[in-house]
Amino acid sequence: MKQILHFEQVCKYVQNIDGWLYLEEAKRLFNLARQLPNNALIVEIGSFKGKSTVCLGYACLGSNKKVVAIDLFESNSTNKGDHQCEYYKEFLNNIEKNKLNRYIIPIKGNSKEIAQKWAKPIDMIFIDGSHEYQDVLIDFRSFYPFVKKHGVIAFHDVWLTAPGPLLVWTKEARHKLYNIQQCDTLAFGFKEDNSIIRETEETKYKSAYSLYYWANCLLLLNNPNFEEVLSCLEDASKYYKHMPNLNTLQAFCLLKLNKLKEAQNKICRELTLYPKNKIAHFLFIIIKKQNKDLLDKILGQPSLKKIAIFGTKRPAEIVYEICNQFGIEVLCWIDDFEKGEKFNRRIVQSGEFIKQ
Ligand SMILES: C[S@@+](CC[C@H](N)C(=O)[O-])C[C@H]1O[C@@H](n2cnc3c(N)ncnc32)[C@H](O)[C@@H]1O
Repeated sequence: MKQILHFEQVCKYVQNIDGWLYLEEAKRLFNLARQLPNNALIVEIGSFKGKSTVCLGYACLGSNKKVVAIDLFESNSTNKGDHQCEYYKEFLNNIEKNKLNRYIIPIKGNSKEIAQKWAKPIDMIFIDGSHEYQDVLIDFRSFYPFVKKHGVIAFHDVWLTAPGPLLVWTKEARHKLYNIQQCDTLAFGFKEDNSIIRETEETKYKSAYSLYYWANCLLLLNNPNFEEVLSCLEDASKYYKHMPNLNTLQAFCLLKLNKLKEAQNKICRELTLYPKNKIAHFLFIIIKKQNKDLLDKILGQPSLKKIAIFGTKRPAEIVYEICNQFGIEVLCWIDDFEKGEKFNRRIVQSGEFIKQ
């Protein structure tokens, strides 16, 4: 599909869609998205029937860019009186009609919850979901760490009629951006260079944790890309070094990529931080012995359909949910501090698991 160079070429398609976006705002949004790199990831919070989504989608035409469209997609989640219908169908119809399916990834849910599981770097975010002050603040604060340096952050309805976006923009967001501009009620800017330095310990930990979680999810896919998993884990360790098994998992990927020496270094690092980590000990011994067959057996194929899950807390439950989605059978949970069963699967200690 050919690239669309000018907003005027798609203007009438965007105008046809019911929604809340002035034409000038749509044009600016389109131009901001169009100048992003070829494989950029755009996140939109609040899609309604897809007016802004289609606008962003057209800016992706002919590229590898993607738009993640987050919305509750529930009939009573918008106050646009007459339109309290099943607008998810209309949203999908509009995407379909404009043949933009391959560029749009809709995610149905509350942005606050989605943010908690988020882990991917973002090139541009458009915030137009709930307009309550606290909600807008959470949307901004929780996705902000994932926006790349020089990435675009845009808010809609920065105007007196919507105090939520206006306050978040004025009190907080604009101070973390450079080259800030406003077009009608669309306010936007670009993420500052030194923004990572300004992050609190809490956001650092959260970002690292999300990336770690995301890496785990990637590992569960058929034929996972170990380079990608590794780069996620490396990003996680840039944010926060002290996370159990962060180095072990990196070692695991490095072994899969046949980088034995580097894997060994990671294991040593894990053992320095967590001398009692039995899994790391075990991997260390096997690497030392250079027993290729045993190593292959232990590392296995993540695309196999049976796995054991480390840990029994919420992140592990999320992995469990994903396993169910992908039809992966969970054999047991591994946890040194819990006993019994969870979701009808035995909880075993790591030592016991290794012996099996
Ligand atoms: C103003 S509309 C979005 C308009 C859209 N950008 C357009 O161009 O027409 C706000 C949307 O945010 C959604 N929304 C409200 N609260 C949300 C939340 N907590 N999480 C996700 N979406 C939410 C609503 O369902 C609604 O569709």
